[in-house]
Amino acid sequence: PISLSLTLCLFLLAPVQMAQTPASMCTPLKTLNDSLSHRRRYMRHNFPIKYTIRVHHNEVFKLSNISRLRLQVEGLDELVLQRLWFQVNQGVLKKIIRVMSERHPSRTYTAELERRFKDAEGVFVQSHPAEVFQQELPDMIQDTWDNLTEEADRVSESRWRYVSPKSLLDNFCHTMHCLFSECFVSIEAQQDYCRVSYWRKGRKKDLQPES
Ligand SMILES: *[C@@H]1O[C@H](CO)[C@@H](O)[C@H](O)[C@H]1NC(C)=O
Ligand SMILES: *[C@@H]1O[C@H](CO)[C@@H](O)[C@H](O)[C@H]1NC(C)=O
Ligand SMILES: *[C@@H]1O[C@H](CO)[C@@H](O)[C@H](O)[C@H]1NC(C)=O
Repeated sequence: PISLSLTLCLFLLAPVQMAQTPASMCTPLKTLNDSLSHRRRYMRHNFPIKYTIRVHHNEVFKLSNISRLRLQVEGLDELVLQRLWFQVNQGVLKKIIRVMSERHPSRTYTAELERRFKDAEGVFVQSHPAEVFQQELPDMIQDTWDNLTEEADRVSESRWRYVSPKSLLDNFCHTMHCLFSECFVSIEAQQDYCRVSYWRKGRKKDLQPES
């Protein structure tokens, strides 16, 4: 009987540990993906060459950060990374919008992107039990979280980064595919969106220097 209940227990635990992306997330994320497909036009062409935005170093959240965190934080739950993704990118979008005047030609695009992002966040919050969001975070993630919410005037100069808006949205898009890959499965071969090389393949014109 012990082994039976153990088996049953493992069986019941399995789906929870895999932290599947709820199917309801896929519609808003695909809508977001549609907007992101125009990022080159709106985030590069409408800004001066070499234009950068000042962001906190923790707001530079790339595929390499995800792989590093997965290695460094033992038993890291995908849901925690997804929460971090929302937290980081909420700030990123806010900072992009802040540098644009009301009449900036990319303003409408960015406002819509932010609206779609908030819709996805709303669905994300609704589709998980509330306790999940009260769970204690692993130290390193909590640390990042605290840094992200720090008052801007208390952040020392060395911790700011100057990043182009296009590059910020590239990070946003690539990490979204990596963390919510179940929503972006393709009928072609299995894709590993978490690999930097996936995004480089045949996309030379979009290539951004890493770090
Ligand atoms: C996401 O957008 C890209 C274009 O940037 C497109 O190729 C891809 O099919 C889209 N994926 C989904 C699942 O909508
Ligand atoms: C991502 O890695 C860079 C260093 O490459 C670091 O500055 C940044 O804080 C990291 N971002 C997060 C969210 O951990
Ligand atoms: C958060 O900021 C502190 C400096 O206040 C820094 O030492 C620490 O490495 C940062 N944490 C992360 C995860 O980036």
